[in-house]
Amino acid sequence: MNRVLEKIDTSVQFEAQLGERIRQRTASITVVGQGYVGLPLAVELALAGFRVTGLDTDHGRVTELNAGRSHTPDIDDRELTGLVGNDRYTATTDSGVLERSDVVIICVPTPLRKSKDPDISFVVAAASEAAARFHPGQLVILESTTYPGTTEELLVPLFQARGALVGQDVFLAFSPERIDPGNRIYKLKDIPKVVGGVTPACTRLAGLFYRQIVDKVIEVSSPKVAELAKLYENVFRNVNIALANEFALMCRRLGVGTREVIEAAGTKPFGFLPFYPGPGIGGHCIPIDPSYLAWKMRLNGYETRFIHLADEINHAMPAHVVELVAEGLNRRRRCLNGARILALGVAYKRGVGDTRESPALEVLAQLTQRGAQIAYADPYVPAVAVDGIVLKSVELTDEQLAVSDCVVILTDHPDFDYQRIVELAPLVVDTRNATWGTSAPANRIIAL
Ligand SMILES: NC(=O)c1ccc[n+]([C@@H]2O[C@H](COP(=O)([O-])OP(=O)(O)OC[C@H]3O[C@@H](n4cnc5c(N)ncnc54)[C@H](O)[C@@H]3O)[C@@H](O)[C@H]2O)c1
Repeated sequence: MNRVLEKIDTSVQFEAQLGERIRQRTASITVVGQGYVGLPLAVELALAGFRVTGLDTDHGRVTELNAGRSHTPDIDDRELTGLVGNDRYTATTDSGVLERSDVVIICVPTPLRKSKDPDISFVVAAASEAAARFHPGQLVILESTTYPGTTEELLVPLFQARGALVGQDVFLAFSPERIDPGNRIYKLKDIPKVVGGVTPACTRLAGLFYRQIVDKVIEVSSPKVAELAKLYENVFRNVNIALANEFALMCRRLGVGTREVIEAAGTKPFGFLPFYPGPGIGGHCIPIDPSYLAWKMRLNGYETRFIHLADEINHAMPAHVVELVAEGLNRRRRCLNGARILALGVAYKRGVGDTRESPALEVLAQLTQRGAQIAYADPYVPAVAVDGIVLKSVELTDEQLAVSDCVVILTDHPDFDYQRIVELAPLVVDTRNATWGTSAPANRIIAL
């Protein structure tokens, strides 16, 4: 009985002490993984007054960050340089820093294997390192998007194997990152944070921690709820994009412009959320995260039908875009083989230079396989490999536009002058409806 009371007493003390350091912002923080998610988080914490270390295995990235050079559009170099200069932020490859940290947040990649099963190796590596160096009174939070159960089934045993008493001397929680790189309206602090701890004390501490940097924190009953909330958000997006894509195929057969239908439907003030068709899905989240859930459910003897169908529709879109290009050229009595195709944008979404899983690359690969001569212009991506061949972005001159047999808009970057494009290009296949509202002869534009 006395022992139990002692343990409770110690855990209350740990919680109170760490809570105080978090409130005073004297807690030392390590953010593991300094990518699109980890770097903005580290910077936000440093701006809030914490001393933050960005731990990353990539030496080149660490050197760049310590020189004040950011790799993401969300953090500008001047801001980073200021934080490095006044010792609020340091990047390192030395995992020894974990031993000296009060709070450790893990933001490492969660990609898929070729088999489409989760590749959880980065999370295992980062969490094993943290567990090997834990000290009593530490808060550890996983932010990487992952399958439901990761925190309790994978992280908790790793810490227990090192002698940690989770919820008593080490506090573990999951809190999904919901940042949208390049989004100028919703930045990290504007996006509510969902937090689920292994025990109520873990949730309380993690909640208190995030309240220092975000306006709203939602505490949920378990890490699994928080893990699933993130997956539901991304499955929702994936399925609705697939619905918009299929709707575009239907509108085409019916001879109706998809965008006009969506805009009209969107005038309903409730019960409708507009999603738009495109050349497919890209980035580190939407094409990948649903497979984490599908995999976990398969282990539970359940096939996720919506996820499967959405995947099938979205992955068929690049081939559909290639057919639209071929159809447009055919109308002009040209064939795809030998045609000069200029692609506008290769990033997976507007305003960023991220080409991970970008459907534009698949469109370009398929066009090349069918004999087209491809070039691309993307102000955010200076060079890109298509089917193993490196292409360099061309300048978007009037001449480039005029000599192309077809211009295909694959990313609706805000930097492109769409009016000029439709005036000069003989044929435009617009997969993003970026030319909506421009004036050009209708037969010159084919929109999804
Ligand atoms: N990019 C997004 O828009 C976004 C949004 C929300 C959530 N997420 C999720 O956040 C997680 C991170 O994504 P990201 O886009 O920041 O990835 P990223 O590839 O941009 O960055 C990951 C960083 O982690 C580093 N790293 C890998 N293993 C490491 C280890 N063991 N120790 C230290 N550093 C290590 C890499 O070198 C890299 O710098 C993923 O689970 C992703 O699904 C991403």
